[in-house]
Parts: sequence; structure tokens; C-alpha cells
Amino acid sequence: MSTLSGEVFYPDPAFATHADDEALRAAAAADPEGFWAARAAELGWYKPWDKVLDRSNAPFFKWFTGGSTNIVYNCIDRHLTGPYKNKLALIWVGENGVDQQTYSYFSLNREVTRMANIIKAMGVGKGDKVTIYLPRIPEVIFAMLACAKLGAVHSVIFAGFSADALQDRISDSESKLVITADGSWVNGGIFKLKDIVDEALRFSPSVENVIVVKRTGHEVVMDPLRDHWYHDLTALPIAKGNCPTEPMDAEDTLFILYTSGSTGKPKAILHTHGGYMVGTYTTLKYTFDIRDEDRWWCTADPGWITGHSYLVYGPLLNGATSFMFEGGPTYPYPNRWWQLIEYHGITTLYTAPTAIRLLMRFGDAWPNRHDLSSLRLLGSVGEPINPEAWHWFHQVIGRGKCPIMDTWWQTETGMFQICPTPSMPLKPGSGGKPFFGQEAEILDEQGNVVADGEEGFLVLKNPWPAMLRTLYNDDARYVQTYWSKYPGKYLAGDSARRDADGYFWVIGRTDDVIKVSGHRLGSAEVESALVSHPAVAEAAAIGLPHDIKGNSIHVFVVLKMGIEPTPLLAEELRKHVSIHLSPIAKPDAIDFTEKLPKTRSGKIMRRVLKARAQGLDEGDLTTLES
Ligand code: WT7
Repeated sequence: MSTLSGEVFYPDPAFATHADDEALRAAAAADPEGFWAARAAELGWYKPWDKVLDRSNAPFFKWFTGGSTNIVYNCIDRHLTGPYKNKLALIWVGENGVDQQTYSYFSLNREVTRMANIIKAMGVGKGDKVTIYLPRIPEVIFAMLACAKLGAVHSVIFAGFSADALQDRISDSESKLVITADGSWVNGGIFKLKDIVDEALRFSPSVENVIVVKRTGHEVVMDPLRDHWYHDLTALPIAKGNCPTEPMDAEDTLFILYTSGSTGKPKAILHTHGGYMVGTYTTLKYTFDIRDEDRWWCTADPGWITGHSYLVYGPLLNGATSFMFEGGPTYPYPNRWWQLIEYHGITTLYTAPTAIRLLMRFGDAWPNRHDLSSLRLLGSVGEPINPEAWHWFHQVIGRGKCPIMDTWWQTETGMFQICPTPSMPLKPGSGGKPFFGQEAEILDEQGNVVADGEEGFLVLKNPWPAMLRTLYNDDARYVQTYWSKYPGKYLAGDSARRDADGYFWVIGRTDDVIKVSGHRLGSAEVESALVSHPAVAEAAAIGLPHDIKGNSIHVFVVLKMGIEPTPLLAEELRKHVSIHLSPIAKPDAIDFTEKLPKTRSGKIMRRVLKARAQGLDEGDLTTLES
């Protein structure tokens, strides 16, 4: 290995696959399609593909055209006739630390088949949309897989979104069915999901049925024609028997997932069966060196892309044992995760910098009380990891011997794009290099590659199998958002640097996307929640640096004529956003102002507001506005 600049951690020789990794990297660089075809051939197909990559209608790329498969065939069915039949697919622990369920691949198939039979009997079939609004309980996985098995399209909404946000997403997707629970456990309290669904459904005519999983057991109102308890349905004859897995064209839609953009309403990112399957399978396998004896824990919620790709689909495609925990990291005490790692012998922990920073604050004594020696690899995702958090994670949690896979990717990319391999020298704060078969560049405004070490716009050069195919119902916005600034190159929306060793350093978003505790929010969404309050005339939301959350939300509010700004009103507005969008989006600070700085075309100059909020010179920054 040649000498690398900056702070470098050389891998433990136990990950002695560096030569293999680099050989694969070189082979994939020489022939990306050949690399992806070889990975696809490791999975099962009802009918092989004719063409690996169809570029004829770029940027509407197609992968494995002519091929027929179903991601569930590869997540479950093919394991049932082999050595994985009795292997644990899922270990689940409830928030109270007492409830526990385990599912082998055999029993996972039973549960998924049962749910598939039920939703099929409700008239859900190929291409129909199903909204899933569930806590982190096994049923969320069953529901996603049941939809995929039938060829239905799932749209999972994080069970922390409000009724307004839920209603927007249900209507936009024209879902026929909603699968939810009575409530979810949040730090010992009940978050009433069913009430939120009821509220959201008042204006959602497309929804015919609601399936309700009993989790919290508190009393809920059931509409006798529309709502059904899941445990009642499972007792019916319709739930019984086999349910064939629907053969899907490789390019058929697997799911849509809403995520925030710069402007306007959230975008529905569309992913397909074939390419997404090959991409998530491959990236998890090589980046996290998945082994049979592993116990893999991805702490993300299935409501986000990380949960889709690396809690649900990726691990099952690899025949891995996945761990899912219903609760958060600090309830009832900040040792919950360390306790679970020790008790369940977790080998790989994949989490977010915001959680690491939060846990770090409670000190080393909490993790030091636990035997964490089962861990062999760690992972980070969602935002840049600051060196302090990296070192703590590496030393205190990984005892200096677990490589940290800092994976850069997006809802849109479906799979890792810039990430290390466990055998690669690591630089704290850098995600390493583009994944096998991918190339990335840092460009200036005009589209020239900038010099190493300089900041610019991050773009991806090659199509990849798990790429989004479009925005559901909005092809034009797909082309405009990702492919128009630099034709032929995918614009990530992030600013980044590449160093002389070819390592990439992602700095942050270049648009008005705010990352709060790793969750992606659009300024526009926060602003529209604010203007829905009768006192507000206009609002602007910005993200400011925050020690734990990465970003905090700071809003500037112009009140309607005659309304007095008071601390009480500020508090009311914060609550309003929490209720009408999500508690994640609750502003940390509210500034009342007479007017907002705007460009001549009426665009809010958020950079000026950022400077103002941080007490910096506004004039200097305005000139930087491009
Ligand atoms: C944005 C995508 C898919 C992962 C979960 C977030 C930021 C993500 C990293 C990382 C620096 C990162 C980027 C990206 N981001 N991972 N390892 N280092 N930044 O998915 O909600 O679609 O957000 O998250 O800004 O554009 P998402």
C-alpha cells in the first residue's frame, strides 16, 4: 500500500481481502456492466435478462431488461430449499427490552405469505399502491415483503410524520390500502398512530381498507367497514395456504419512497425489482463483508431508505441474520444499545453520526460496562461524521479494531455510492472511494473538474443498478433535478472534495435540504407548515450547525398585519410545525422579522438569513450567492 496523506487507519490483517477487493475494483472499472451482470447471476431469476443496461432513453436508464424475477424470491423463497431455511432471518426486541421475537427464513415466509394472502383478498394486486405506516415491529417487514411478493408497490411513511404529511403522501400515491398499528412506543409513552391515520383519511378517497396491527393496546376507534384488526384477519380462512410469488419484470416498480427536495412537495423516489435487488445485495456484501455467522444491526427505521435497503432487503438477499430494535438509544438509559450488542452478540453496527454524538455525550462509562467484543465492523450513514465522533466510535465502541464504513448515498441512489471496503485504509470523515463500477467527480459551476482538494458539486458518472428510475408521476422533475445541470452526469446535490489519494469528502447539501439528526427535510415543507398557521404571512427555514443533530432548524417568520410577536406565539408556532409536519421538524428557534431578504425574482436568500442567524456579515455572503 502506498503512503496516504492525512490521518489514516490501516485495516486489521484479519480483513485480508484487500487484493481481492482491489482486483474486483479494477475489473468493475474496466467493465461495469460485466461486473453487475456477474453479481446479478448470483441471484435467482425466473427468466434471464437480455440486456444488462439499456441507455437508449437516458436518463431513464433500464437494467436487466427482459429479465423476470421478484425481490422476494431472492429474499425468502430461494432460501427455503437450502441451508438457510432454519437460519435466523430476524431477531426483534421491543422497546421495553422484554418483548422479543425471532424468525427463521422458514417462519418469515409463513408470516409474509399470511399477510400477502390477506391483502390479496382485499383486492390488492400487481401495481396497486399500499401505504405502510407502522412502528419498528416485525409487521413492517412482513408488510413490505407481502406487497413485493404480490407485485404491489409499497410506500412506507415514517411513523413520526403527522396527519397532514401522511395524507399528502397517501393521496399522491393513490393508495388503496393502509397498514398501520394502534400506536407505537416512544420512550415509554404511546404515540397514537391510528388517530393520525383516521385524521389523514378524512380526505383520502382512494383508501378502501385499513389493516391495524395491535401493538400498544390502547383503545382506538375502528370504522366497521374500513378498519380491520390484523389479528382478526389472520384467523380467517383467506389468510391460510400458499401464496405464489408474482414474477415481475426487472423494471417493474418495487416501491416509492417520499423524500424532501429543495422546493415544492416531497418527491416520490421510484425503485424497481431487478436493479435495486442486485445493487443492495452487492453493496452490503462487499462493504460490510457479510458472513454467515454475523448478526447485523442497522439501527435505521424502515420508514427511510436506509431501513429499506439495509435493514429489510439487503440483509435478506444475503441470507443474513438481521437485528431490529423497536426503541431508541437512550431509553430507559443510555446503555440500551450496548446492552443489546452484548446480549445478542451483534457483529456489525450500522448507525448515524447523530446517534453517535448523542451517546458520546453520556460518557464512556455506559459502553464500558458492557462486553462489546462481538463487534467486528461499524458503519455510519446520513451525514458527514466529524472526527471527534469517528474517534469515539472507533476507540470506545470498536475498541480500536473495528473498521468504520462511512457510506455516502441517498434515497435516490438506493445503494451505497461512495464507501470503503473493510480492507481499505480509512481516513476519518471520508467515505473513501466510489463503489465498484462507479466513478465520481467534483465539478465547478461550468462543469469543469476542480483540482484535488477543492470544493465543488459532487456528480456520479456511471448509471448503477439501484438508481431511481424516475420521480413517480413526474418525469420532467426527475430530469430537471438530477440530470440538467451537467448533462449525462447525476447531480447529487452535495458539495464535496476529492483529495490527492482519490478519497472523497462530502461536506453537505448545496440546496435547501436540511439534515436534522440524519433525517432529510426541505425548507419548503417547514415553511408551508408555518404559513398554514393563521398568524403567519410568510416564513423562511434554514439549517444551522448543531453539535448533536448536525443541523438545527431556525425559522424567520413574518406575521400578518396587526399580530404581535410574543414568546407564547413562538412556542405555539413550534408546536404547530411539530403537529402539522413532524416532531423531527420542530424549529429550534423562531425569529420574528418585518420582511425576508429576497432576490429580484422573489427567491428567499437563505444564505443571508444564515449569516444573520449566526451573527456573521450579511453583505459578504450575499456576494457569494450564485
Ligand atoms: C443525503 C441523502 C441514504 C442514506 C440516508 C440518507 C447526506 C448521507 C452521508 C455520508 C456525508 C451523507 C448527503 C446526501 N449523507 N450519507 N456518509 N457522509 N453525507 O439518505 O435522506 O436521502 O439523504 O444525506 O447530504 O445527499 P437521504
